[in-house]
Amino acid sequence: MTINENADVNPEFVKGLEDVIASTTSIGYIDGQEGKLVYRGYDIFDLAKYSSFEETVYLLLYGKLPNQVELEAFKEKLVSYRPVMNEVMDRLAQFPCPCHPMSILRSGISLMECINESCRGSGNIEGEIEEGIKLIAQIPTLTAGIARILNNEPLVQPDPELDHAANFLYMLKGKRAHPMAERIMDISLILHADHGMNASTFASLVVAATLSDIYSSITTGISALKGPLHGGANEMVIQMLLNLNSVKEAEEYMDEVIANNKKIIGFGHRVYSTIDPRAKILQRYAEELCNITGNQQLYSIARTIETRGIEAYGKKGVYPNVDFYSGLIYHSMGIPGNMFTPIFAVSRTAGWVARIIEYLEDNRIFRPRALYVGLKGLSYVPIDKRE
Ligand SMILES: CC(C)(COP(=O)(O)OP(=O)(O)OC[C@H]1O[C@@H](n2cnc3c(N)ncnc32)[C@H](O)[C@@H]1OP(=O)(O)O)[C@@H](O)C(=O)NCCC(=O)NCCS
Repeated sequence: MTINENADVNPEFVKGLEDVIASTTSIGYIDGQEGKLVYRGYDIFDLAKYSSFEETVYLLLYGKLPNQVELEAFKEKLVSYRPVMNEVMDRLAQFPCPCHPMSILRSGISLMECINESCRGSGNIEGEIEEGIKLIAQIPTLTAGIARILNNEPLVQPDPELDHAANFLYMLKGKRAHPMAERIMDISLILHADHGMNASTFASLVVAATLSDIYSSITTGISALKGPLHGGANEMVIQMLLNLNSVKEAEEYMDEVIANNKKIIGFGHRVYSTIDPRAKILQRYAEELCNITGNQQLYSIARTIETRGIEAYGKKGVYPNVDFYSGLIYHSMGIPGNMFTPIFAVSRTAGWVARIIEYLEDNRIFRPRALYVGLKGLSYVPIDKRE
């Protein structure tokens, strides 16, 4: 038996769909060479400086910055949708597993859809937007609740007086966070909200395009985001940093990584061949936060890895990505490592929803082909004649 050499070769085939254009979008733009990220025409540096997560979500969903009245109405809607049904939280609390919070989050969203009939595919765009806004509002409540369940702490109900990021930290910690932590969380949520046709966005679009419901699309996004080559990297970065006890150890660690041409977690990106603009923004806030929380040594360790990593791999276009500094920020806020990827999902849900709605407005089911490289023309052998 031989592998068929005459498979119908498609010269366009690219593994991992690298650079393949799968749809058009007006939502976000990345210039990987210049290190630019743009949402609806606005540079991420400006949004991080002047905007809020709520305003950014409005921008992603509706294509324009809201005026004051629109923003207030949108914020009120998000606040009204924040509470998650007790039945969902009660069931999550009974989960038998010592499993990853991303798995519990994925299950929580499935439960919301199973328990609440009104969540099911409305079949129209307006209905899907409304369910999407509900998810953007409820996933922080679900995520904070999961963290508290895993820590054997009582659940904290959302505070309608607080903005999205401040309320999320409040539900997570059970008390108001430092104003600087609240603002940095807000910025981090802005930075993670959307990022081109990344793996989780593509995965959620594939499901949406079958006209399945938006809950199924978002659970698919979460499943893809969980992977260590995608959103799961932020948790691994902090594990790497916490394993190093000094700058000297970081130097030795990097000697070994570089000598063996190993990958550095939190480095590299399919699109950027320069520093990820989100890492650039987060690095400054990581420094500020580490200074006020007594984590200066951890920050110095991260800087050592960054500098040595860029020296060794920068010429290949491998630089720190968003996950390199986000973990340091969340760690300085006292958040456990296993919650870092769920926090990514708290933010990225906005991008998933915006892109799902955009795609559904001119939907076409995804159906690529696989290049067959297997056997052909075999004769069926009865089981008693097989070796
Ligand atoms: C993100 C990632 C999956 C992108 O993968 P990709 O586009 O398929 O890139 P490749 O894995 O093909 O790597 C291309 C080259 O860069 C190198 N490279 C990629 N990521 C690297 C890293 N983190 N550290 C060192 N070198 C890296 C590869 O070794 C390869 O070098 P070579 O051409 O000499 O063989 C990859 O960079 C990675 O695994 N990074 C670590 C995980 C991570 O931080 N993920 C979060 C992304 S936001």
